[in-house]
Amino acid sequence: MNILFTNIKELIQVREVSIDFLSGKEMNVLPTIKNAFLLVENGLIADFGTMENCPKTKFKIIDAKGKMVLPSWCDSHTHLVYADNRENEFEDRINGLSYKEIADNGGGILNSAKKLQAVSEEVLYDKSKTRLEEIMHLGTGAVEIKSGYGLTKKAELKMLRVIKKLSDNYPIEIKATFLGAHAVPNKYINDKSGYVKMLIDQVLPAIQKENLADFIDVFCETDYFSVSDTDQILKAGFKQGLVGKIHVNQFTTIGGVQVGVKNNVLSVDHLEEMRNEDIEALIGTKTMPVSLPNCSYFLNIPYTPARKMIDLGLPMALASDYNPGSSPSGNMNFVVASACIKMQMTTKEAINAATINGAYAMNLHNKVGSITRGKLANLILTKKINSYNYIPYSFGNSCIEKVFLKGNEII
Ligand code: NIG
Ligand code: FE
Repeated sequence: MNILFTNIKELIQVREVSIDFLSGKEMNVLPTIKNAFLLVENGLIADFGTMENCPKTKFKIIDAKGKMVLPSWCDSHTHLVYADNRENEFEDRINGLSYKEIADNGGGILNSAKKLQAVSEEVLYDKSKTRLEEIMHLGTGAVEIKSGYGLTKKAELKMLRVIKKLSDNYPIEIKATFLGAHAVPNKYINDKSGYVKMLIDQVLPAIQKENLADFIDVFCETDYFSVSDTDQILKAGFKQGLVGKIHVNQFTTIGGVQVGVKNNVLSVDHLEEMRNEDIEALIGTKTMPVSLPNCSYFLNIPYTPARKMIDLGLPMALASDYNPGSSPSGNMNFVVASACIKMQMTTKEAINAATINGAYAMNLHNKVGSITRGKLANLILTKKINSYNYIPYSFGNSCIEKVFLKGNEII
């Protein structure tokens, strides 16, 4: 689709030259052009500048007077393929049960796995596509989706095939992650190493054969998978050509950040519990810290100490963690608002974290995450707003008028 956006009040996140990611003080710089045009040709960003230099074309014109344009959100951590919600656990939580107590009572990840194993691939696809469409309308233009509610070879492959089908059928950019090491299924309750061996010897090669995953993930956490399990699974994934992205420091600090950094993973995600040594381990590395404020909000657990980490020079990405247990929302607008309201990130930092840094955490920074010539025209057109600060300020309200993916309006 070819479009000329004219009279854009402010074109946000303009990068003349493609960058990998932003860290420390750079995160508080958000380049924009006021009174701008943006030319979209064949689904790509072809040109932009101030209105004085606006070209004459026969393209469809969208007059964006009073409105802003920014790159669509890049959500680098979700589990949006799942069979059913877990509202019953929500009631339990309101009644005072913790995440661990709910899991111990037959809820949690194993509950989702039981439900997922029971549904067909077609039903799982239909349920998941509704969630994908929902986040597209909320402005997400690139998303990572994990397996990990299958926990058998058959069900893990079912999940990954659904992710592949979503990717084939929708214009949103999708990356797939194998998270077989999400919880130990009951069958292996006294034989965790047998489960890890099954994942490595049987599931990973099958995934590779069908080319179903980009990344390998592990829930590195007390009562789930240890540092040495994580190390073993990551290395097995690397042998199959997968890149590492891991869950660490959600509830306890057991050395997850360190094992991630040692293995040069692309991102370490969650980071609600961070000791100084965990923060220091990330300095000077290319591993992106990913914060998931929706999870902190929903589970009432600490937020990632993002202010401290950015002040120490680190980068930060923001993602939704959309899943039925700890974040039943994929709304990146709320994520950005929460980062500002609860984590003392500035609007500029939060927008950078939810666009270019999120793109990096999916290895998609050359395709999305900024207004750069040649990148996909995955865009948010806002309603009439006074400043981009209004986006997080008006938390819970939508500032989005339209979303475009590859230059096509999402209806
Ligand atoms: O990222 N922490 C592990 N996995 C998910 C939650 C999974 C669930 O409760 O279903 C998360 O928070
Ligand atoms: Fe997660």
